[in-house]
Amino acid sequence: MTFVVEVDVPVPMRDGVELATNVWRPEGPGPFPALLVRTPYGKDDAGTFGNPKLPDVFAFVEAGYAVVAQDVRGTSRSQGTFVPHASEGGDGVDTLEWLAAQSWCDGAVGMWGGSYMGFAQWQAAVGGAPALRAIAPVMSSADPYGAPWYSPGGALSQDAVLTWGTLSALRNLRRAGGDGVASDVGALTAGLADPRLLHDPLPVAERDAMTRHLPWVREVLAHPERDEFWRGIAAIDRCDRITVPALHVGGWYDVFIGETVRSYTMMRRHGGSAEAREGQRLIIGPWSHADGTDLGTFPDRSFGLGGSIKAADITAAHLRFFDRWVRGRADVPDDEHRVRIFVMGVDRWRAEADWPLPDTRYADFFLAGNGRANTAAGDGVLTCDGASVEAADTFLYDPRRPVPTVGGTVLAAVPGAYPGPADQAAVESREDVLCFTTAVLERPLEVTGHVTLVLHVSSSAPDTDFTGKLVDVHPGGEAILLCEGVQRARYRRSLTRPELLEPGAVHDLTIDLGVTSNVFLPGHRIRLEVSSSNFPRYDRNTNTGGAIAADGEDELAVAVNRVHHGPARPSRLVLPVIERPGAEVQR
Ligand code: BEZ
Repeated sequence: MTFVVEVDVPVPMRDGVELATNVWRPEGPGPFPALLVRTPYGKDDAGTFGNPKLPDVFAFVEAGYAVVAQDVRGTSRSQGTFVPHASEGGDGVDTLEWLAAQSWCDGAVGMWGGSYMGFAQWQAAVGGAPALRAIAPVMSSADPYGAPWYSPGGALSQDAVLTWGTLSALRNLRRAGGDGVASDVGALTAGLADPRLLHDPLPVAERDAMTRHLPWVREVLAHPERDEFWRGIAAIDRCDRITVPALHVGGWYDVFIGETVRSYTMMRRHGGSAEAREGQRLIIGPWSHADGTDLGTFPDRSFGLGGSIKAADITAAHLRFFDRWVRGRADVPDDEHRVRIFVMGVDRWRAEADWPLPDTRYADFFLAGNGRANTAAGDGVLTCDGASVEAADTFLYDPRRPVPTVGGTVLAAVPGAYPGPADQAAVESREDVLCFTTAVLERPLEVTGHVTLVLHVSSSAPDTDFTGKLVDVHPGGEAILLCEGVQRARYRRSLTRPELLEPGAVHDLTIDLGVTSNVFLPGHRIRLEVSSSNFPRYDRNTNTGGAIAADGEDELAVAVNRVHHGPARPSRLVLPVIERPGAEVQR
């Protein structure tokens, strides 16, 4: 097909700042419905739209849509200053209104794009512009505190903040000409080449080369609680103002996955119109955020051809969704099932009526043993029968020697590892990692949904972290990570009203371990790992009870941490079990 391209159209915002915008539209007068993407990564950069996790722009034009790509304020060829999240609401609404007024546009617009491009959609959707009919955030979040910058348990997502902060600071610096700051370029690029240089130095808040070019990072580190700084940009807190359907796409190993799923469930319950509540759709595959994992193939685990993004046909899903909601074609069935998930273990796609799956049964798996659960060779047991004796497992958490991140929902590859389903052997041999494992399974057990861990803990410190990981132990011994989480003790009751621990006293806390879908096959075992760090996926708790990001090397304290279990202190892993009698379970 032939189409018309307009490059760098200046679109004026309410304060006079002009945002550079490209338009690809089918030949002819139209009018056409439009699909808008707003990006900080360069609308002219083939890499921005060549990412296989995003739909194919040309298929959109071929289907009769005008595709509109804009550089967000302060990036690439747009005017203004880039302050992440600060202007996406107003600029999004102004752009939607401009689009609706163009002669070639029929007044109906959908928004699309991944990650930051997803934040831009959520923030624009809150503004309620009548032209906006649907959004399609891929691997993104409507609550930037919960993901990607902090986490539901209040720990900083250090890798995401510092890696993305470095890349964005470098983009800002280059856009400004980069004069006189060659040393900053050197420091920033060195940090990307060797993540130890990026992550190890303390205090975390002292990142001058980065904050000189992206002062916003300083703000992020100064707001460890979910205060007004975060609530002001959390579209999820204003779900009732969002009146459009959303197509959510996520990856089980994506840094955003918890919030991707929460956006879906919150919009299903609290969306601002019947259409919004009914029109939510969710697709989750075995992918991480990193480029190149869209094939569903990782060094320690391959999900087969069906795990690839191609098998999910993201472009077709977007087209069905936009035809239904932007074109308003009620005759186009936009997926008869609301939810499509890739079930790991059996490595198959499955359609579901909703999320969480309506037939979920939450089952307790109790932590048990005689107090020597340290390492995978210890005596830690996970049992449905309940622990019969009171015991406690003890480990030293030394922030100078944190447990290294091995796979999972980390944003970037860290030394010796990659985001995704990595074998945990290297961390399970550490004395500061407790392991609780079931007997070998005789029958398949499906776990699909939200995983939580309830712990009774004590610490010698006034504040510390507790981490958990759910692991599928294969018959050959490989311990493949499924999902994970962390709880900062001071935030165990509230993300806005911290409460320190009473050293030595037993407290209970609940850790959100995220979501997964996995069939533990016969011959496999279910394992829970508990520790106090997962670095640099999360920042290290310094164990002082003070402002963690401001603590230096000299302030770090070692904590003696304990997990109690038994009839009086039933520490337990709560798994979302799916039992469907007669359902075929095979690979
Ligand atoms: C992204 O756009 O890919 C992204 C944005 C924020 C944090 C991490 C990734």
